[in-house]
Amino acid sequence: MNSPDQANELTRQSLTLDQPDDWHLHLRDGDALATTVPHTAAQFARAIVMPNLKPPVTSLQAASEYRDRILSARPSGSEFDPLMTLYLTDSLAPNEVETAFNSGIVQAVKYYPAGATTNSDSGVSHMSAVMPVLERMAKIGMPLLIHGEVTDHEIDIFDREKVFIETLLEPLCRELPTLRVVLEHITTRYAVEFVNAAPANVAATITVHHLLFNRNHLLAGAVRPHYYCLPILKRSSHQEALIAAATSGNPKFFLGTDSAPHARHAKESDCGCAGIYTAASAIELYAEVFEDAGALDKLEGFASHYGPDFYGLPRNTNKITLEKKSWQMPSSFTLAQDELIPLRAGESIAWRLAK
Ligand code: NCD
Ligand code: ZN
Ligand code: ZN
Repeated sequence: MNSPDQANELTRQSLTLDQPDDWHLHLRDGDALATTVPHTAAQFARAIVMPNLKPPVTSLQAASEYRDRILSARPSGSEFDPLMTLYLTDSLAPNEVETAFNSGIVQAVKYYPAGATTNSDSGVSHMSAVMPVLERMAKIGMPLLIHGEVTDHEIDIFDREKVFIETLLEPLCRELPTLRVVLEHITTRYAVEFVNAAPANVAATITVHHLLFNRNHLLAGAVRPHYYCLPILKRSSHQEALIAAATSGNPKFFLGTDSAPHARHAKESDCGCAGIYTAASAIELYAEVFEDAGALDKLEGFASHYGPDFYGLPRNTNKITLEKKSWQMPSSFTLAQDELIPLRAGESIAWRLAK
C-alpha cells in the first residue's frame, strides 16, 4: 500500500515533491522570454509574473497580451501557467482592478513605492493616493503584493524594510484588516515577526538568495555585483531568522524566487542594477538550504502547498523528483542580445532535478 507519506518518502539521495510554484518572478519581455520562460517552466507549474516592464503592466489588456507572449515562449509540451499581476500606480482605477481579477487572468496587484527598485518609477507616491483601489481589493479578496521598502534618502538602506513595516504596512493592515497581503522577498527578522504576529490574510515570500547569503557575501573583501539585489542582503542574524521561518512549517511563508535577470554589463557596472537570476536552479538551491537546516521534510509545504493555499488555487497534482547528484551551473546564458550571469555561475549545485 502506498500511503501519502511513502509517496513523499524522504531520503538524502532523492526527494519527490508535488510540483512547486514560484510566487514572485521577473520574466521580462521580448527576446528575453526565450531564456527566462523555459528555465522557470522546467521546474515550476505556475508563477506570479511581476509587472515591472517598461512601460509597466497597468491594464487587463496589457496583462493578457503579456501572458500570450509568455505562453508563446513555452517549450513545446509545457503546461506552465503564468499568473499575471497589475502594477499599482496612483491612477490605477478600482474598476480596472476588479475587472482584471474577475477575468481569472490577473491574480494580484503589485505595490512598488515609487523609486524603490528596478523599473519602479511609476509606483505609488503616497498610500492615500491608492486607498480607493486597496479598499476595493479588500472587498473582492484580491491579494496585494508589496515591495516593502521606504524610499526616503535619509533612511539607511539596511533599515528600509523595517521602517516600511512600521510606518506604512502596520497602519495599512490596521485600516484594512481583511486585505490579503503578501510582503514580498522578506529580508529581516522584523519582517518575520510582523508576519508571524499578523492574521492569516498576511503572508510573505522568501527568496533562495536571502536564505543562502548575507551582506558579507556582497561586501566582505570585495564588492560582488551579482549578489546585489533589493531589498539588499542583511546581516547573518536576519538570514538565520529567514531560514527559521522558511523551514518552520508555518503556511504564511512560501516560495518566491524574485529571480530577476539583468544583462551582465548592467550588473558589472559603476552603477549596477539590482537583481539576482536564480530561475535556472531555484528548487535545487532551496533543497540545499532546507537540507543544511535539517528540514527537507518541510520543503514541500513551503515550495508546493502554502502558496496555492494562500491564493485560493488548487495544489499541483503532478510531481517532481530531486536527486542528490551534483551538477555544474553554466557560466552564463544568452539574454536577448546580451549575456546573463546566473547565481552559482560555473559552480556546482548539490541537488539535481530529475528529467
Ligand atoms: C527586481 C528586478 O530586477 O525587477 N530586482 C531586485 O533586486 N529584486 C525588482 C524587485 O523585485 O524589487
Ligand atoms: Zn521587489
Ligand atoms: Zn521582484
